[in-house]
Amino acid sequence: MLRVSDLHVSYGRVPAVRGISVTVEPGSITLVLGANGAGKTTTLRSIAGLHPPDSGEITMQGRRIERQRADRVVAAGIVLVPEGRRVFGPLTVEENLRLGGYTRPRAGLIEELERVYDLFPVLSERRHGAAGLLSGGEQQMLAFGRALMARPKVLLIDEPSLGLAPAIVNTVLTRVREVADSGIGVLMVEQNAKVALEIADDAVVVARGEVVFSGSAQETRSHSSVVRAFLGETALRQES
Ligand SMILES: Nc1ncnc2c1ncn2[C@@H]1O[C@H](COP(=O)(O)OP(=O)(O)O)[C@@H](O)[C@H]1O
Ligand SMILES: [Mg+2]
Repeated sequence: MLRVSDLHVSYGRVPAVRGISVTVEPGSITLVLGANGAGKTTTLRSIAGLHPPDSGEITMQGRRIERQRADRVVAAGIVLVPEGRRVFGPLTVEENLRLGGYTRPRAGLIEELERVYDLFPVLSERRHGAAGLLSGGEQQMLAFGRALMARPKVLLIDEPSLGLAPAIVNTVLTRVREVADSGIGVLMVEQNAKVALEIADDAVVVARGEVVFSGSAQETRSHSSVVRAFLGETALRQES
């Protein structure tokens, strides 16, 4: 559904992404692994229309989108859940969700809200409370919910477990699996390689802007030496 082919992106003259190719299918999670600075966030932002690539092709359901602005990319069905969640703290949970649905016809908003509340009951309980009072894990659910309000076909998720207590990393990643199981394609960057490989379908490992390994999540787990080499010794150690 989403195809990224030989993507090159730079900041000024400094290359950050040097020929990354990756695909995402409906109902499936493609995991992007790689050390800090490898070019993972740049790849997601470039797909989302926030940083134009120097070269390469991005197609969504057969249509070229690599020169589209961010709002057109959202309209094509691709929504970014940025690193750091970026919820609006002073606004209520429901106001945050409504912001995510701003591109949708007003008439459908209530239905979308109910769908999100079904998926994340904690958001329903806290709907009239300030988003800034939610825990980190709850704020991540809100970031997912806000993205889902736009009815995406593909979600780009950047480091959803960053800064969360280890005990809730599993919960957050389980929610990502449920989102994918509803038919949405997910391209996710995540540093918790061990847990993330358990819920992902496919994985690519990037280093210095290039793909150095790609395969099924299962293959990636069994090539643990590859993952360790590029992510460090602790990458596959069980967190608890
Ligand atoms: N806004 C920016 N301006 C200049 N260089 C940047 C900017 N953002 C990222 N970079 C550089 O691009 C490279 C890739 O960064 P990034 O995509 O954020 O990596 P990752 O998400 O894998 O940690 C790094 O070398 C980083 O320093
Ligand atoms: Mg990053």
